[in-house]
Amino acid sequence: MSIQLSDPAAIAERLTSVRRCTEQIVAGLGDDVLVYAPRPFVSPPVWDLGHIAAYEELWVWCRVGGGATLYPELQAAYDAFETPRPVRTQIQILNPAQAREYLAATRTRTLEVLHGARPAEIDPGLVHDGLVFDLVAAHEAQHAESMLQEFVLAGVPITGVGAAYEPPAADGRSATTPERIEVTGAPVSLGAGPHGFAYDCERPEHTFELAPYAIARDPVTCGQFVAFVDDGGYARPKLWSRQGWEWRCREEATAPAYWQRAGGGQWSTRDVAGPCALEHDAPVCHVSHYEAEAYASWAGGRLPTEAEWEWAARGAVADPDQANLGIRCGHPVTVGTFRGESAIGCRAMLGDVWEWTSSEFVGYPGFSAYPYPEYAEVFFDRGYRVLRGGSWATQPHVASVTFRNWDLPERRQIFSGLRLAWDRT
Ligand code: AVJ
Ligand code: FE
Repeated sequence: MSIQLSDPAAIAERLTSVRRCTEQIVAGLGDDVLVYAPRPFVSPPVWDLGHIAAYEELWVWCRVGGGATLYPELQAAYDAFETPRPVRTQIQILNPAQAREYLAATRTRTLEVLHGARPAEIDPGLVHDGLVFDLVAAHEAQHAESMLQEFVLAGVPITGVGAAYEPPAADGRSATTPERIEVTGAPVSLGAGPHGFAYDCERPEHTFELAPYAIARDPVTCGQFVAFVDDGGYARPKLWSRQGWEWRCREEATAPAYWQRAGGGQWSTRDVAGPCALEHDAPVCHVSHYEAEAYASWAGGRLPTEAEWEWAARGAVADPDQANLGIRCGHPVTVGTFRGESAIGCRAMLGDVWEWTSSEFVGYPGFSAYPYPEYAEVFFDRGYRVLRGGSWATQPHVASVTFRNWDLPERRQIFSGLRLAWDRT
């Protein structure tokens, strides 16, 4: 069988642009920075680099092209399950120069497969609509975002990202909707439809009985979160869930990750370019699910369920002119800077910060794992919480209204914030 793709040039262009992002992120970084993992729950960036290559080689060159890996002895080291994050600094893997070479050599072979030089007997589902190429492009983009989290956590400023970009000035156009948007309950359709690329956990599309609710037009901002901190939010156990309060005591958390208050009371933080002042009108970033819940309870609201979030986001498009996506700004920006709105008038649903929902990560009714259960299924029903919408560090082709991200409720090195919802009485 030979591979029939409707637009191989578009696929090649996508792969090239993702690689450009990866290269831009690590450009000029020394080996010491690339091999360092600041905490056991993140990878050293050099592992991400080798793993991106190994994943692409496995799915394109080996599974589709029928070829052999360049590094049979390293396949276990680059398998995310056989080698979990805490051991990734303890084992023998490629050094940064070797990992870069592995990336380049693999890409050459990927393009050979893409251009039909290696026809093979394969599962036709893997190449239908170019699935396997979308998969490796999305995978690399997700690890690019992970590397950015790792550098911020390590306190390593990245100079190749965000520096030359000026976000558009907010156009002064006032929002077209009130701050709190009322939604009527109805049976709604959720999840990704049958066509085009989506991860297995976004499917199948299904009907969901939505109860009436209200949702905030905008994400919670840093300035709003400061009010919670100043009101003793981190010292009032009643605002927190039991596990949340345990976490806050264990971590001795007194503010979102990276926030520091100077003598004069001014807050500062850090972003991908290094230390910076807190931007009061930009969405709050680097909060755990526990902090998001406590804020919501203090503010008299709650987190939206993922169904409520997805319905509210309908109509938002992952266009970099409409949303803070694509690793340009290096941080979330003032709400209203980008014009994108959902059909019901919510702003910044896509981009800026991932938004915590109250939902646990589970399979949709009728879920079936494809092409491999380790992407999502093995994380179902394990206490992971769903995040939606993508961040400033998410590339547009991996951001959508149906995309489901997930993480443990204590994590906050991710670019995570929140939006409020309310019951309607
Ligand atoms: C979807 C972001 C939770 O980083 O663990 C990367 C993405 N899966 N390689 C993760 C992923 C396999 C995944 N998240
Ligand atoms: Fe991965």
